[in-house]
Amino acid sequence: MSKVTVVGAGNVGATCANVLAFNEVADEVVMLDVKEGVSEGKAMDMMQTAQLLGFDSTVVGCTNDYEKTANSDVVVITSGIPRKPGMTREELIGVNAGIVKSVAQNILKYSPNAILVVISNPMDTMTYLSLKSLGVAKNRIIGMGGALDSSRFKYFLSQALGCNANEVEGMVIGGHGDTTMIPLARLATYKGIPVSKLLSAEKLQEVVSSTMVGGATLTKLLGTSAWYAPGAAGAFVVESILHNQKKMIPSCVALDGEYGQSDICIGVPAIIGRNGVEKIVELDLTADEKALFEKSAAAVRATNAALKEVGAL
Ligand SMILES: NC(=O)c1ccc[n+]([C@@H]2O[C@H](COP(=O)([O-])OP(=O)(O)OC[C@H]3O[C@@H](n4cnc5c(N)ncnc54)[C@H](O)[C@@H]3O)[C@@H](O)[C@H]2O)c1
Repeated sequence: MSKVTVVGAGNVGATCANVLAFNEVADEVVMLDVKEGVSEGKAMDMMQTAQLLGFDSTVVGCTNDYEKTANSDVVVITSGIPRKPGMTREELIGVNAGIVKSVAQNILKYSPNAILVVISNPMDTMTYLSLKSLGVAKNRIIGMGGALDSSRFKYFLSQALGCNANEVEGMVIGGHGDTTMIPLARLATYKGIPVSKLLSAEKLQEVVSSTMVGGATLTKLLGTSAWYAPGAAGAFVVESILHNQKKMIPSCVALDGEYGQSDICIGVPAIIGRNGVEKIVELDLTADEKALFEKSAAAVRATNAALKEVGAL
């Protein structure tokens, strides 16, 4: 029996739970929220699609009842506030740090061996906070940002190339922020062909810029942050863990000397399997890419420093 808990049954959490159930990634999906009745209602609504969509997974909702989450294999944390138009992800730290820390502590009481997938923003800092405050092995804490940003990168590349997004490869590393993420245009390919051979330098730069503000563009259109791709990206990471797929997914993980960084959680390609982070893949970055990565790490560190100011660490 495999079990996944999703904390926060808002836009991202409920979408993630829905994808997990629809794709039968886990036998049981539990949604937990502080808002009375919301998780229960959304779970019942999803269960009423089971006969229509033909899935056998069970979705259960609960209001702040951590006992229901007991013995989860993987727990996805989406609880917290999302950004509004004009806000940066970093501005959410004061409220979300308290929520993420208390949620993670409660979760571990009932699922001491769970692997945690942190989605709440600012995600790199929330992942670092979870690592520092919970004292669990670093392979068990994974921040989800790179899976989403890479999917957005591939979308914008496919739009520029006029092709199917599934035929494009590309990844985004670094922090999960509008100015900190690094879409690796040099390594992006269409059916093995470097995209730099197919798109002009200007067009490629346009794709990179659209990717970096991809979240902000949607926040402006929607009035709140996006949920379909973030929820699906969370489920994608959960599936690689639970089904031991060992996919290479750009993920926010603790670095201990890799990429010349320590005492930080930031996006790099990692092999994600049943043990969580199975391996960190070290790319051979160019001097320019290394400089961008260092700048990104410095920005993530600056946000991490705010954890002390808000009393979370
Ligand atoms: N990492 C990413 O790629 C990514 C992408 C999109 C959104 N996000 C972040 O994910 C978070 C959720 O976004 P959303 O759009 O789903 O927001 P939302 O407001 O729709 O949902 C958040 C839910 O968390 C619940 N919540 C608040 N405190 C809680 C607690 N202590 N315990 C349990 N539940 C609690 C709220 O009641 C709400 O239902 C935000 O921080 C957002 O910025 C991250």
